[in-house]
Amino acid sequence: MCGIVGYVGESKAAPLLLDGLRALEYRGYDSAGAALMEDGAFTIVRRAGRVEQLSEPLAQLHSAAKIGIAHTRWATHGAPTEINAHPHISADGRWAVVHNGIIENADALRAELETLGIAFDSETDTEIIPQLLGRVSGFEDAEQGTPLDVLLDVLPLLEGSWALGILCANAPDKLLCACQGSPLLVGEGEDGLYLASDYAAFGENVHKVYRMTDGEIGVLTRDGAAFYDSRGQALTKPAEEFSHREQGGGKGSYTHFMRKEIDEQPLAVSRTLEQFFGGALHAAAAGDFRLPCQLPHSPRKVWLVACGSAYHACVSGKYVIEELARIPCEAVVASEFRYQYPLIGEEDLAVFVSQSGETADTLAAVREASARGAATLGVVNVAGSAIARACDAVLPTLAGAEIAVATTKAYSAQLAVLYALALHFAKEQAHEEPEFEEALRRLPESIQAALSTEDAAKAAAEQIAGADHAYFIGRNLDYAAALEGSLKLKEISYLHSEAYPAGELKHGTISLIEAGTPVIALACCERLLPKTAANIREVAARGARVFAVCARGNGEHWGTDSVISLQATHPLLMPSVEVIPLQLLSYHVARIRGCDIDKPKNLAKSVTVE
Ligand code: AGP
Repeated sequence: MCGIVGYVGESKAAPLLLDGLRALEYRGYDSAGAALMEDGAFTIVRRAGRVEQLSEPLAQLHSAAKIGIAHTRWATHGAPTEINAHPHISADGRWAVVHNGIIENADALRAELETLGIAFDSETDTEIIPQLLGRVSGFEDAEQGTPLDVLLDVLPLLEGSWALGILCANAPDKLLCACQGSPLLVGEGEDGLYLASDYAAFGENVHKVYRMTDGEIGVLTRDGAAFYDSRGQALTKPAEEFSHREQGGGKGSYTHFMRKEIDEQPLAVSRTLEQFFGGALHAAAAGDFRLPCQLPHSPRKVWLVACGSAYHACVSGKYVIEELARIPCEAVVASEFRYQYPLIGEEDLAVFVSQSGETADTLAAVREASARGAATLGVVNVAGSAIARACDAVLPTLAGAEIAVATTKAYSAQLAVLYALALHFAKEQAHEEPEFEEALRRLPESIQAALSTEDAAKAAAEQIAGADHAYFIGRNLDYAAALEGSLKLKEISYLHSEAYPAGELKHGTISLIEAGTPVIALACCERLLPKTAANIREVAARGARVFAVCARGNGEHWGTDSVISLQATHPLLMPSVEVIPLQLLSYHVARIRGCDIDKPKNLAKSVTVE
C-alpha cells in the first residue's frame, strides 16, 4: 500500500525522507519519489521501482532543503511508471502533493479542468489534487488567502479517501497534511516535525505522535504543528508518547523478517493470552481467566469478519466458538459482508479481525455492522488504528510490529484471541472447559515445539519448489489451516495453490490431480482421521505426491511421500500448531525460488483501498 513521509525542521530533509521511505517499503509498492522545497522552489526526484533508486539522485543534489515530502506508490490508477509516481505537481508548478487513498470522482474533476485548459501529466487520480489546488489558488481573490484556505476550498470537492502531504511554493516554511479514510500520523521530534503513514517511519528522535482523524488538516512548521477541522477551526489534539525501540527493531541475524517473525510466534501468543489470565501464563491458576473488555452477554450470533489471513483465523474461530460455546457463528470475508445485506442486528456481536487495523474493506464492514445495530469488537495489532477506533470494544493482539507482508505472528495471535473469546462465551453459559483452558495456557509451548519441524518442512519444500500447482486439503479445522497454508505458499513463492475441503476434492478438482502433483494433506483432526486418510489415498492413487501434516504417530501407512509429525495439543487448538510447518514450508519454497520473501510483488501490508 502507498506510503507517505514528510519533514520540516532544522535538519536536511533528503536523507530523512529516504530513511522514512525505506522503513515503509514493507507496505508494498512499485515506484517512489520525493519533493524538496528550498526558497519556494521544488526539486522533484521520482523513479519506477525500488526506493534505493532515489538514493543516488537525491545525494547528487547536495540539497540543503529542510522541508520535503516523499512517497512509495502502490499503483491503483495508472501503471507503475516514473510519470505516475508521486509527488504530483500543479500546472503552475506551485503545489506538490503525495497521496495514499483513492479519489473516486477524479475522472469527472479531471474532465472539468481539462476543458479549462489544464494539461495533466499522469494517469493517476492523485494529480487532480495539485491541479485543483493550483486552479483555486490561481483565482485573483485567493491572493490574500493562505494555503490552508485553499485546501479548505479544495477538499470538499473530493470524494473517496486520502492521506495527503502537501507543499506550496508560496509558503516555503509550511508542510500541510490532511486525512480522510486513510491513516496519517504527525511525529514531533527534537529536530522538527515528521509526517508518516504509519509508526514504522518514525526514527529515534520522534518522541510524540499525533494520529490524524478523518476531516482533519495539519499545518506543520519547524516550530510545531497546528491542527484544524474541516471548517478551518483550530483543534487541540492529544499526543501519544512514542518510542522507536518498541517498533520491533531490525532482522537481527535473520535473512528475512518473515523468518524472524515465525520464531516470534510463541512470544506473540504468550503476550496476547496474558491479557486473559491476569498476567504471566505459567503463574495463572484455574479460575484466573477473564475477558479484559466488556461485551454483550451471550450474543444471538457471532459474526467474524476480516480479509486474507485474518479471515482464515476467523474460519478457525467459527469452528471453535460453535463447538465450545454452542453459539451460532459465521466467518465472512469483509468485502462480501458489506454488500450481502447481512441479517445482523442488535442481538449480534460482530468481531473484526485485522493486523493493521486499517484494511478498508474491514473498516467499511465495521460501519455496516454498527449501522445495523450490532455490537462491534476489534481484534487488531495496531493500537489506535482506524478499526480499533471504530469498534465499541477492542481485544488487541500483542504480536508487536509485523514487518513481513505475509503475516505469521499476528495471525497466530489472532487465533489466540478467538480461542479466548470462545472460552469466554462457554464460561458465560457455565460450560467450564478445564482441558481447553489448560491447553490454551500452554499454547505458546505447543507452538514452540512445532518450530522443530523446520527440517521436515525444508525437505518437503525442496520437492515442491519446482511445481506449478499445489493443493492443500483438510477437514474441519484442518481445512481452515489449509486455507492459510495455501495463501502463505502462493503469496510469497508465486506457486499457484488451492485449499480444498478434503471431502470436496472428488466433486471436481480431483480431475486436476496427476502424477507428481503435490498435495499437502492436513490430518490433525483426530476424530475425522479415517475420512481424511481415505481422501489421501484417493489422491495418492492418482499419482499425487502427498505431504501429510499430522499428530505424532499418525500417517505412517497412508501412501504419503512424507509426514510432518506434530506434538498434539487440544484438538480445537491444532490450527495454531499445524500452521507452523506450513509457514516454514512456504518460506523455504520461496527461498528456493529466489522470491522477495518480505516484500512479495503486487502485495501490500496494509490494504487501505477497496
Ligand atoms: C496475509 O499474509 C496477507 N498479508 C493479507 O492476506 C492480510 O492478512 C490481509 O490483507 C488482511 O490484513 P489486515 O489483517 O491488516 O486487515
